[in-house]
Amino acid sequence: MAEAVRLAAAEDIQAIMALEQGAIAHPWPEEDLRRLISDDDKFALVIEDEDGIEGYIGVSVVVGEASVGNLVVRADRRGRGLGTKLVEALIAELLRRGAEVIYLEVEDTNAPAIAVYTRCGFTEYNRRRDYYGAGRDARLMKRAVAGA
Ligand SMILES: CC(C)(COP(=O)(O)OP(=O)(O)OC[C@H]1O[C@@H](n2cnc3c(N)ncnc32)[C@H](O)[C@@H]1OP(=O)(O)O)[C@@H](O)C(=O)NCCC(=O)NCCS
Repeated sequence: MAEAVRLAAAEDIQAIMALEQGAIAHPWPEEDLRRLISDDDKFALVIEDEDGIEGYIGVSVVVGEASVGNLVVRADRRGRGLGTKLVEALIAELLRRGAEVIYLEVEDTNAPAIAVYTRCGFTEYNRRRDYYGAGRDARLMKRAVAGA
């Protein structure tokens, strides 16, 4: 089976938690993941193959402004375009939902994530010094949902 992207559901929470455990320094608490999936102003997309969930992206949307909360691809599946597919699917879903702009923060040293966002049309509009801790700056990026 080729990869497919779909909306995350409550049944995916354990799989998303397992994915985060091995992939990022500060996995999201279960309660936050639950809210990401159940709250009206938030949603998540997962990408999966026959072995299960390989990655996910979470977003909240307030009056047409979307904010990406997290993007994770399983460590052993990176570099195959899955992160890019997730971001492209997110843009398409936000277009359907009538959102206008997408914002995100990414650590300045996170070259793979910056490569994905740049390829998907995001541009840097500001920086936040020490956003992730002393000496760890954030790049603030955005993209219009339609066009770009
Ligand atoms: C960021 C992340 C989601 C990307 O997922 P992915 O499936 O590997 O993404 P893609 O395969 O679509 O693209 C990865 C890009 O990073 C590039 N890349 C990979 N490792 C790299 C490195 N060490 N230095 C520079 N670029 C790198 C790849 O070459 C590719 O870019 P290219 O196609 O232009 O060459 C994944 O690395 C991840 O889960 N990281 C940990 C969590 C994280 O940091 N999330 C982002 C939070 S803002």
